[in-house]
Amino acid sequence: MKTVLITGANGQLGSEIKRLSENNSEKKINYLFTDIDDLDITDINSLQTFFSNKKVDFIVNCAAYTNVDKAESEEDKAELLNAIAVKNLATVSVNYKITLIHISTDYVFNGTKKTPYTEGDSINPKTAYGRTKFKGEQLITDSYKYNIIRTSWLYSVFGNNFVKTMIRLGREKEKINVVNDQIGSHTNAADLAAAILLIIQNSIEDSSYFQNGIYHFSNEGSCSWYDFAKEIMNYAGLNCKVNPVSSKEFPTPAERPEFSLMDKSKIKDVYKVIVPDWKKSLKKCLDEILT
Ligand SMILES: NC(=O)c1ccc[n+]([C@@H]2O[C@H](COP(=O)([O-])OP(=O)(O)OC[C@H]3O[C@@H](n4cnc5c(N)ncnc54)[C@H](OP(=O)(O)O)[C@@H]3O)[C@@H](O)[C@H]2O)c1
Repeated sequence: MKTVLITGANGQLGSEIKRLSENNSEKKINYLFTDIDDLDITDINSLQTFFSNKKVDFIVNCAAYTNVDKAESEEDKAELLNAIAVKNLATVSVNYKITLIHISTDYVFNGTKKTPYTEGDSINPKTAYGRTKFKGEQLITDSYKYNIIRTSWLYSVFGNNFVKTMIRLGREKEKINVVNDQIGSHTNAADLAAAILLIIQNSIEDSSYFQNGIYHFSNEGSCSWYDFAKEIMNYAGLNCKVNPVSSKEFPTPAERPEFSLMDKSKIKDVYKVIVPDWKKSLKKCLDEILT
């Protein structure tokens, strides 16, 4: 029996992993779900105590400082969780021979490319959040074994996110403005959870399966936030008009990349992960939220 520890388990991704693990209970994996109250990953002493008492084979780090705008004025706080805590996990990974699966972001890229970003493309974050996540990526390479999975524009049935905000606004307002000059791909956290559990299950069954390194995962296809909002309103049957606006007309503390679509070839080739289409995945989530 192998043990998989999930940190930040009450967030969007952690909650989806929990739900999926409950449906996969026959797979002979013992899951430990923790969040800040049980295991604060910024505290190296708590981590050392925790791991000296428990045999863990994999850590999936879902804990992160994810408020992109607030990070502009709280970069130290974001760095503590997105970088220093990741160094802590890398340390226990070496000390206790634990494989670390860490989640990063498309916002490590500056968005000036015109074709999908590959894992080897140069990094130049525009935001404080992106800078702290990139520092985390750099600190992880000292782990016993690691994967960094960069994802983008995550949403889920769990937690607060753009999909839920659009449904609320669609019910309250006749029209809303949504930016249409940032292109990327959304990610249903349930799909990312399935990819992570597939990687872990296959690595347990075949020791040559796991390949250290960086991977990209988001849903297939590309769209702007405006396209995504329109799809949500249409599918939910909401009569709210969505107006396309430029990022200049909708200023935010953090200036997002214009283009952050990621190439998923590597995760498909190396791990044979299925990457579902963004519209199909959005509908699955909406079916649950709307019932
Ligand atoms: N959300 C996105 O659009 C997006 C996009 C690209 C990449 N990502 C990455 O995907 C991963 C998962 O994101 P998510 O949206 O699922 O995150 P999330 O919903 O914000 O969840 C993060 C979880 O970590 C917990 N946490 C905070 N401080 C902690 C600590 N010191 N120790 C342990 N846990 C702590 C949070 O608790 P509290 O809620 O109590 O703070 C929360 O439950 C992150 O690495 C994120 O950077 C996310």
